[in-house]
Amino acid sequence: MARLALPLTGGSIPSVGFGCWKVPKGTCAEVVEKVIRAGYRHIDCASDYGNEQQVGLGIKRAIEAGICNRDDLHITSKLWNTYHAPEHVKLACQRSLDDLGLSYVDMYLIHFPIAMKFVPFEKRYPPEWFHDPDVPDPRIELAEVPVQDTWRAMEELVDAGLAKSIGLSNFNCQGLRDVFNYAKIKPAVLQIEVHPLLQQENLVRLAKTLGVHVTAFSPLGHGSSYSDPQTSALYSPIVQGIAQKHDKTPAQVILKWGIQRECSVIPKSENEERIKENIDLFSFELSTDDMEAMKGVNTNHRFNDPAVFCEKSFNTFLPIFD
Ligand code: A2P
Repeated sequence: MARLALPLTGGSIPSVGFGCWKVPKGTCAEVVEKVIRAGYRHIDCASDYGNEQQVGLGIKRAIEAGICNRDDLHITSKLWNTYHAPEHVKLACQRSLDDLGLSYVDMYLIHFPIAMKFVPFEKRYPPEWFHDPDVPDPRIELAEVPVQDTWRAMEELVDAGLAKSIGLSNFNCQGLRDVFNYAKIKPAVLQIEVHPLLQQENLVRLAKTLGVHVTAFSPLGHGSSYSDPQTSALYSPIVQGIAQKHDKTPAQVILKWGIQRECSVIPKSENEERIKENIDLFSFELSTDDMEAMKGVNTNHRFNDPAVFCEKSFNTFLPIFD
């Protein structure tokens, strides 16, 4: 598996990972074991996805079957919004580790620059609430926890050996620069929505300038169950033309475009063929002209915006992106 550099740690990260967001609990262990068998070595998780126990089971089965060792895997998890207070950060990380059945994660990210009031684990809302406007949750209340305090507690996770590296998710340019300025341990990764419809040129360039590796979530620009498939980047005539030229699928062109921009990509699929397709990216290269043409696909279309969900469901306006 090809890897990309993590300039600030001196380490590296597999360029293709498997995104566990929206993988249903019922099939998750099986899917995770399957993707490891298919060659994925980078698994992207979060406590908010509600399936870390099942991800852990899939990892355990793959390791027991001799497919790989723990050290061959790059596992990312994320701190949920209700655990930003410094006294909750270690508890939340330990909870993810227990669910995953691991003694450390390779990367632990602050999931959003949004602090919410603490909710005990056993009273946690269903993870669907954040993504499904039909699952209202009356307990959403913001908390006044500066990101700087949360970051200090994140740094302690590295000191304690619970996380090899730490980083950020869903931060904008200013948020990234702020953390970068006061961090003793710099964020190694910024995970953001990036795909041909939302190319994020400024944020990707800023991260690169700072040495922060970008991981692209929703990298296919396929949207999700609540978005119109016709808006998908997979249907872009530019993408389809390049795919035809290389005799590859539109998904492969899109993922390769991401990697050639030096972003790791974490596509999700529950389908065996597409799981294999999404990692079969290393027998072709996009030309400079292809990369240039891909710029024309950008519409700045964002599929995942908490402002939209929060306003619809909770009457809370939370714009966090540029
Ligand atoms: P499925 O799980 O049925 O394969 P993203 O990771 O960008 O959020 O995209 C995930 C969505 O894209 C899922 O709906 C997934 O459906 C679909 N998908 C994943 N891989 C491919 C592919 N190679 N071609 C078309 N659709 C795909």
